[in-house]
Amino acid sequence: MSLNDPVDPVLAAEPVLAPELGPELEPELQPVLAAEGMPSHISLFVTGTDTEIGKTLVSCAILHTLVAAGVRACGMKPVAAGAELRDGVLHNEDADMLIAASNVHLPRNITTPYMLRDACAPHIAAARDGVKIEAVPIIAAYTEVAAASDAVVVEGVGGFRVPFSDDFDSAQMAEQLNLPVILVVGLRLGCLSHALLTIEAIVRRDLVLAGWVVNEIDPEMNFADENIAALAARIPAPMLGRIPYLEHATAEEAAKFINLAGLPGWPSRRD
Ligand SMILES: Nc1ncnc2c1ncn2[C@@H]1O[C@H](COP(=O)(O)OP(=O)(O)O)[C@@H](O)[C@H]1O
Ligand SMILES: [Mg+2]
Repeated sequence: MSLNDPVDPVLAAEPVLAPELGPELEPELQPVLAAEGMPSHISLFVTGTDTEIGKTLVSCAILHTLVAAGVRACGMKPVAAGAELRDGVLHNEDADMLIAASNVHLPRNITTPYMLRDACAPHIAAARDGVKIEAVPIIAAYTEVAAASDAVVVEGVGGFRVPFSDDFDSAQMAEQLNLPVILVVGLRLGCLSHALLTIEAIVRRDLVLAGWVVNEIDPEMNFADENIAALAARIPAPMLGRIPYLEHATAEEAAKFINLAGLPGWPSRRD
């Protein structure tokens, strides 16, 4: 089976807090996942409640887990705004981190078909670069990445609905790619409304919300447990992890707090 098979976005799963999640579970699970019953192809679209809330970290953590499980995995950042030229190659920080976490490496113009120079809203960066961001090159690039790997993790841009041009935005990109969506909730004041509005927008586009990850980006956040409980009671998909504020926010560290076994279609435990 494939995780991309249609699942009712609302009935996909009961809200769960997955209290069994913990760093100790993941390493022993990984070889099992590699050996038995993993979905034949996995593609995920990672979106977030905002920019700078941990989409890249979570995307890289998922890639890290897949790679450790022996899966041929490739990250994609179809639209990246903010690039600098080094040795004749345009580098974007997110794209570089996704490449570092992947074990399938393709030309950069495939994993990031729109590498924009200015670190600003993509429609502005695109206009300044004299390009128009369109769906077809993104879908063509994704098709190529998917053909070359067993798992693709596509990182969105900013929040869920970022304008790309007068007639295209990041929500439409997700719609066109039609992948199960993982929502990263950056736990800070205001995230409840951001998360619930984002989920409304995902469900309205008939996309599958495959799961959500809490990322504790604000070490000063009060009532974290209560906020997470409020989300869990309202989000019709499994919580795949709760990443604490990390001293060293690496993919490997963050991966210890994400449990992909919570994904629909993923084997949940060894039998
Ligand atoms: N759980 C965390 N603990 C500490 N720092 C974090 C955590 N999550 C993210 N960060 C840091 O916050 C910044 C934004 O994270 P990033 O994954 O790039 O967000 P996004 O992709 O949503 O813009 C990065 O510098 C990252 O290292
Ligand atoms: Mg990012």
